[in-house]
Amino acid sequence: MKFRKKTIRDIDVAGKIVLVRVDYNVPMKNGEIVEDMRISASLPTLNYLLGQGCRKLVLISHLGRPKGEVNNEYSLAPVAQRLAKLLINKDVRFCSETTGDVVREAVADTPDGGVLMLENLRFSPDEEANSEEFADAIIAATGAEVFVQDGFAVIHRAHASTDAIARNLPAVAGFLVEDEVSKLEEATTDPEHPVLVMIGGSKVEDKQPLIDKFLPIADMIAVGGKIAADGYTNDNPKVYVSEDFALDENGAKLDIGARSIAHMDEMIRKARTIIWNGVMGMTEDQRFAYGSTMVATAMGHNSGLTIVGGGDTAGFVEGMLRSPNNSSLKFSLVSTGGGASLELLCGKKLPGLEVLLDA
Ligand code: 3PG
Repeated sequence: MKFRKKTIRDIDVAGKIVLVRVDYNVPMKNGEIVEDMRISASLPTLNYLLGQGCRKLVLISHLGRPKGEVNNEYSLAPVAQRLAKLLINKDVRFCSETTGDVVREAVADTPDGGVLMLENLRFSPDEEANSEEFADAIIAATGAEVFVQDGFAVIHRAHASTDAIARNLPAVAGFLVEDEVSKLEEATTDPEHPVLVMIGGSKVEDKQPLIDKFLPIADMIAVGGKIAADGYTNDNPKVYVSEDFALDENGAKLDIGARSIAHMDEMIRKARTIIWNGVMGMTEDQRFAYGSTMVATAMGHNSGLTIVGGGDTAGFVEGMLRSPNNSSLKFSLVSTGGGASLELLCGKKLPGLEVLLDA
């Protein structure tokens, strides 16, 4: 599906300082990065911009929710180190501020062709407040001439780095935003039928809008996960709710059962477009990851448009894809964005996307 915004292919970045909003909100444990899917997903955009001869790249991101205060637990310094390992042969530096002279000097010290990552934007309350002054201060300190939005996972937020900055610089999408938005919009507006939507997870209030949005579009909707275990019902004949469950020793329903897996497998085989959002069981315990594993396996063998929504579901599928035993599984999109992909699928307008220049 044609992307309706300008992208990095449409602008000239040669000799310019380019400000790139990435979403490096990666899971961390004891100061270590647990999984770096969001960092790797940004590499095509960064390598392309560097290959086009941009003068310097300045990267901005948030990490976690430090509530507007400096908190080293949420520093992006380890993330910059990981990026330096992944961006082969590039000079990657880190600056512990986001505005002011320290940033000005760090940009000046970064060699041409180099990359500078600034500290966590959410150390300032001005980021989430979508402050114009904060946006101007970042632009002034970095000397940025062009803005690239490639943080797909955060474009559902109207923050300084997704909205205010984009209003004050020529603002285009990076490849990650282009790819994710195009596939998600194709699934909602022009999908090949039969369309199957698979819903799992635990919060029915988050998933009901997705079910409502897809009832007129989808041919089949399958509901599993804790939502089904908690007794979800829907009278619409398109909706199949898991009919049996795997139980723990206390009788708690922690995964979908064999009959439900077989039925969902059949639905997946028939479908030409599949959207999956929410794991089918308590996947953190291997004993209850079977339903999700079987769903992912069937979906990974379907040659249609296969989209895995972000958050836990994407993390689960990415984990499977890291195993060489699963090298035959292919997905059209394993989204890097949880809230963003859900909102886009539900038909909401994403502020960080809408603000970009129209194609
Ligand atoms: C995410 O992980 O969904 C994004 O990075 C957005 O983070 P937020 O929900 O804290 O805004």
